[in-house]
Parts: sequence; C-alpha cells; structure tokens
Amino acid sequence: MSNEKKQWDPSQLRKYDINLEQISRYDYNDPRVDELMSQNKPVIIENSSVVASAKKWNLDYLEKYMGNGDYTVFLSRNHKFKYYDDKKVAKINNGDVGKNIEFTQPTKKVDMKLPEFLKRLKEWKRGDDRLYLQQGLNNTVGSEIVRDFLNFDWNFCNSKQAKHNWGPLTYNLLLIAMEGNVTPCHYDEQQNLFAQIYGYKRCILFPPSQFECLYPYPVYHPHDRQSMVDFDRPEYSKFPKFKEAKGYEAVVGPGDVLYIPIYWWHHIESLMRGGHTITVNFWYKDGPSSSISYPLRDYQKVAIMRNIEKMLQDVLKDPREVGPLLRTMVLGRFTE
Ligand code: OGA
Ligand code: ZN
Repeated sequence: MSNEKKQWDPSQLRKYDINLEQISRYDYNDPRVDELMSQNKPVIIENSSVVASAKKWNLDYLEKYMGNGDYTVFLSRNHKFKYYDDKKVAKINNGDVGKNIEFTQPTKKVDMKLPEFLKRLKEWKRGDDRLYLQQGLNNTVGSEIVRDFLNFDWNFCNSKQAKHNWGPLTYNLLLIAMEGNVTPCHYDEQQNLFAQIYGYKRCILFPPSQFECLYPYPVYHPHDRQSMVDFDRPEYSKFPKFKEAKGYEAVVGPGDVLYIPIYWWHHIESLMRGGHTITVNFWYKDGPSSSISYPLRDYQKVAIMRNIEKMLQDVLKDPREVGPLLRTMVLGRFTE
C-alpha cells in the first residue's frame, strides 16, 4: 500500500447520513467470489481481464474510433440523473393511467455525436447542464470499438452466467460521466457485472429486503424502480424508515468489476474532482423460472409484489385506487 499512488480520497465522496459497511473485494480466482455470487450478494472482483481490451479507452481514443453515430446523452441541471421510463411518460400523457397525473422529466435525453459530447465535456463550466452519456454497445459504434468489445473476457462472463444460472446477456451499456454525476438509488430487474474502465465511482447498495426503507415509486410511475428518497435531503417525516436503511458501499476503480445482484438497490456517484469516468456494464436476465426453488429469495418476492401491483393497476386504471384496495384486503381481516 505504502508506495501505491493514492487514487482518491474520502473528501471526494458525497456526505450522506446512512449506515454503511464495505463491500468485500477478492481476486477473481478466490472461491469467495462465487460463494457470494451464489447467495446473490455483492462483491468486487479484482484483477480479472473482463474489460482489459478497453483499458485504452480514453476520450481521444473514443473520439477517434466511436464513429459518427448518434449516442444517447442525458442532460441535467444538477448532479442527479434520475432515470425515467419514456413509455410510462407517454401513457401518462395519453391519459391512460387516470386523470390529473403529471410528470416532468428531471433530465433531458438527447442524441449527440461523440465530438460534440466531448467538446461540451471539456468546455463545461458551472451553470452549464451536466452531461452523462449512456449508450448501448451495438454495431453502430465504430469497428475498432467493436473489436475491443469482442476481446472482452467473454469466457469469464459466460462462466459466471452458467455457474449462477443467469438468463441471457441482454445489454452492455457504456457510461461516460462527468465527475460528481450521481445516478440516484434504484434497482434493476437484471443481474449486473459492472466493469469499471476509467476513473472512480462510489457505489452504495441495499438488499431487496430493505424495500420498506427505500420507498419505491409505484410501478405505473415513470420513476418505477427508483427510490422516492432524496439522499441529499431525506424527508424523514415522509420516509421515516429510511433511517433504518443499512447499506453496503465500495469505490470501484479501473479493473474492478462489481457484481450488483438482481433487484439490489444501487446509488452510483462519479467521485467529485476526479475527472470523468467510464464504465461498461453487463446485464443478464434472471434465470428460467423452472430453476426456482423454495423458500423464495427476497428479490423474488419483490417481483411478485410488482406483478400484483401491475395487475391491480391494469384493472383499476386509477393508480390512486391501488393502495387503498390493498390496504382493505390486508387490514379488513382479523389477524391474530
Ligand atoms: C447500472 C447503473 C449507473 C451509473 O449499471 O445498473 O445504474 O451511474 N449504472 O453507473
Ligand atoms: Zn442500475
């Protein structure tokens, strides 16, 4: 440690009032990696060569080889890039989910060529919109990038997929963030190998069992799967159980792969004053339901709750009726 260059320091982390414990880090050969993964627990995998072929992806290289495609860039007036589902926004605007429901996108989603993105990144000054490129790696990216992509350590990824009974790989998302950008707390319905390529990101995770501490938006809402709690300023009067949330955290750097288990909540920040960050993630579907065994895991119960909520939304139409109906169903009964 002593002669290693210190790569980041704690003053670069945003301050939150949350009880946090460190996520374990192990060498990719260490059997404890698979032990944790098989229990759907997060772990940082060190020294793998999953994205070694992308080590050379600095901004100049990407500018040269990404090609002339239109890439998806989010613009935000502040440091937060809270995800929203366009299809759910459209349903609200069509009046498909009850009346008097309004939604304003917290970020703008635009198509941008890479040179423009990089120019805005370099010339950015306080008061400008922040930028976050989030682009699926597909064949619209240049052929050099495709070559690097094909040279990822697919054996490693495929062996994790097979060993842990995951479904197919659905997507690799390339994320290029400005320092200080934050992806607020949410969960995804996929397994995720989150491979850090450049710069440092702090990841705060919570298990699916903490559903009640994190107050997800209703499923019909464009912010479905996101926590309603603003970590910068939690409204404890509305979200009292957030005080009981107990998370796991880690700072990942180049060469680290963080396993984010399916349905685990995660908040991700590019460290302040650390320059930009580059990540590629690997999203895998859940395994086939034929391999489900009992007792069910916590995340599978969250999936069940989502299905019930969707079903009620479909038949009741007005989302404001969903909660009261469930409340009647549960509380309108004698329980010992
Ligand atoms: C993810 C994710 C956001 C980020 O990979 O699932 O939410 O800012 N990433 O890296
Ligand atoms: Zn995510």
